[in-house]
Amino acid sequence: MCGIVGYVGCKQATPVLINTLKKLEYRGYDSAGIAVMNDDEILVRKAKGALRVLTEDITKEVVRLNDKMTGEECDAREAELIAATDKFVKGTIGIGHTRWATHGEPSDINAHPHTNVSGTIAIVHNGIIENYAKLKEQLQAQGIVFKSQTDTEVIAHLVNFFYEQTNDIFEAVKLALKKLEGSYALGVICKDYPDRIIAARKDSPLIVGLGKNENFIASDVPAVLEYTREVYYLDQKELAVVYSDHVDLFTEDGEKIIKEPSHIEWDMAAAKKGGYAHFMLKEIYEQPKALKDTLHPHLVFNGDKAVDIKFDEMDFSSIFENVDRIIITACGTAYHAGVAARYIFEQLTRVPVVVDVASEFRYKNPIISNKDVVIIISQSGETADTLAALRLAKEAGAKVIAITNVVGSTVSREADRVIYTLAGPEIAVASTKAYTTQLMCLYLLALKMAAARNTVSQKDFEYYLEQLELIPDQVEQILKDQSNTQKFASENFNKNKVFYIGRLIDSASSLESALKLKEVSYMHSEAFAAGELKHGPIALIDKETLVVALATQKALYEKINSNVQEVKTRGASTLVICQGDEQVFVKGESADTIIKIPQIEDIFAAITAIIPAQLFAYYCSVLRGIDPDKPKNLAKSVTVE
Ligand code: F6R
Repeated sequence: MCGIVGYVGCKQATPVLINTLKKLEYRGYDSAGIAVMNDDEILVRKAKGALRVLTEDITKEVVRLNDKMTGEECDAREAELIAATDKFVKGTIGIGHTRWATHGEPSDINAHPHTNVSGTIAIVHNGIIENYAKLKEQLQAQGIVFKSQTDTEVIAHLVNFFYEQTNDIFEAVKLALKKLEGSYALGVICKDYPDRIIAARKDSPLIVGLGKNENFIASDVPAVLEYTREVYYLDQKELAVVYSDHVDLFTEDGEKIIKEPSHIEWDMAAAKKGGYAHFMLKEIYEQPKALKDTLHPHLVFNGDKAVDIKFDEMDFSSIFENVDRIIITACGTAYHAGVAARYIFEQLTRVPVVVDVASEFRYKNPIISNKDVVIIISQSGETADTLAALRLAKEAGAKVIAITNVVGSTVSREADRVIYTLAGPEIAVASTKAYTTQLMCLYLLALKMAAARNTVSQKDFEYYLEQLELIPDQVEQILKDQSNTQKFASENFNKNKVFYIGRLIDSASSLESALKLKEVSYMHSEAFAAGELKHGPIALIDKETLVVALATQKALYEKINSNVQEVKTRGASTLVICQGDEQVFVKGESADTIIKIPQIEDIFAAITAIIPAQLFAYYCSVLRGIDPDKPKNLAKSVTVE
């Protein structure tokens, strides 16, 4: 969703705010704005469009007006503007925002920061205020005229209301928060308190970055990594008062909190493109390392042979022994990892698995018992729907295991057990390395559970660990030799209909492949269990259609070959992604193109099978002139319902 930053220190705030906002552009990019405090006033600049528009606005304003005016008029205006820009440049405290619109269209007016009527209090906000209409009515009844259509503006006027009563900005924010229903991460500055930012959060992430004589707020760690790797993760309903030389933390009732900052292990390089054209491509190429990093800390070796799996000090045995059922819930790509996991867990552990999208879970009055294990999967650890599912599962007495990429995220703090995907920051909106590392964690968890329940022998268990160890190098091999995928994309990027088909675990990979393609290339793509084609979707097949068959399950090669033949007969172009050893698909007959992935035990093929599909989506995006890192209407980390 939206990105928030704030700076208080001895540097000029504007360049720091712009620089930190740049790192958060992936969270929203339909408008941006900053508010910088000078001695006697708060200056606000905001603009519809990408951050670049705002930056140009600030730096080029003098030049643009110069073009339009002449003579004395110009000189006078220029002097005025230089003075205004100077003030902007002088301020050493400010807040900034990059927006993904929820309430009110993307526009200059609706962009954050929002202010009270007199412009003495400015606010940036992430999240949704659910009771904003009621609050707005009450404020309007007091004569307040709103400028924007946003829910955030309500907060600015509400804080002002309490400030007039208390004459204390911290008290005013605290009292205003009590009136808000919904989710928020907030940054507030006030003209009368030129030395501090007030920050608060509920159901929307916010961190405080700790520098030397300077401190920051941000909705995500990459924003501040260039300046510091020491951060406070604000907990639910916590407030922070951030000064240049120290930070005070409080509960919602104003009681002081003492906690240790967390040290961020990643460095700046991890949050930069590092020579790749796009973050998406960089993250696709980071997968061999991310997979190794995620796998290796969990392996227990005897000599150089992996013989067991460990999850730090966490003891899973009590969970594994008494489980009747596994429920997996997540959203989007993480949900697809869950769909694949159903096949993995059922095959290896023989425990029945239910998989649900988290956005539905809480509304369906789910049946959950204390003998269920609920697995929550979330890259960001902040997805609103997924968090709601987690809380519901805990309330119902289930044991909750979370798989997440973000240390300190809300999911990681609220689950009973956590397994981290060590993928490093995922910046591209379309998830790639998070998905494959989530699968790696799910394989590990399923194997550990299978061993605990004696559903695999020690011999098979060790053989499966060997298979897992093969995966990072196999992914590397696919990435090294991906010219056929690139060529295939160049021949098919203008197709209007793309169907992905697969059987068993390949149907999960098909879902993820179709999502990847539609997200970044806007090509219409759907996924079907291959056997379902003739029950309806085959009516759509014609010569404009591309059908991609994911075929890694050896016992079903013949079956899926028949499905490919059925669509080929009806004019579709076809691509088959299959294991290296297969002999069933014949190029030029059912399959126009065959991409072979390295040989692996069938159930472990989900990670390698997705790599060509990720690359295909990426290349189609670029060939269609789209920026794959910023697909339209999407944002990373969906912290609103
Ligand atoms: C797709 C994508 C989204 C996320 C989904 C859940 O490429 O990234 O579908 O997978 O929004 O996000 P997390 O995993 O952060 O809960």
